[in-house]
Amino acid sequence: MSLGVLYVVVTAAGATRQVPSQLLPMAAERGWDVHVLATERAASVFPDTMAEIAEVTGRPVRTDFHTSVGYSLPDPDAVIVAPATYNTITKWALGIADSYILTRLVEQTGRGVPIVVGPYVNVNFAQLPTFKRSLDTLTGWGVEVVIGPSEPHQSGVEAADDFPWAEILDAVAPR
Ligand SMILES: Cc1cc2nc3c(=O)[nH]c(=O)nc-3n(C[C@H](O)[C@H](O)[C@H](O)COP(=O)(O)O)c2cc1C
Repeated sequence: MSLGVLYVVVTAAGATRQVPSQLLPMAAERGWDVHVLATERAASVFPDTMAEIAEVTGRPVRTDFHTSVGYSLPDPDAVIVAPATYNTITKWALGIADSYILTRLVEQTGRGVPIVVGPYVNVNFAQLPTFKRSLDTLTGWGVEVVIGPSEPHQSGVEAADDFPWAEILDAVAPR
């Protein structure tokens, strides 16, 4: 049974490399119809991962508005934003909509669909008061925040294999 349309928003954070092998098979097994959306920076930093994602989902990774790519996506029933950079979290929590991804995030937050964010941020970024304040703001808007056991991580390390993909999917499961 299909659970509906799930947007998976990926950003330019190291754990994006795990999305095709870890998150996407799990999401499909649970019955989600997945569309992956990427920030422009994620697409430029991780081109091989974008190609893998397209192969796994059978769909191109979406990075731009319908006016540029020629078709609209269906509205989502739920949204996962993971891994989420400090940059995307901070701008989203300020309500900034100056890119395709931020526009979609602000719009879907306003629509009130279930949204889960999984930050992937190093200890230096996480020190800033803006980080906690942004997560508090998003929580206040009804966004669920799922923090992995290794977060915030040390700077310059390879993404740990305990990013909470299953917990993130649990958090968007229909009740
Ligand atoms: C290879 C690479 C890995 C990065 N990893 C992270 C990360 O794990 N978390 C983070 O917050 N920023 C990370 N950054 C910095 C972000 O990519 C940068 O802040 C960027 O502006 C984020 O853009 P986005 O939020 O639109 O994807 C990384 C940058 C590079 C080049």
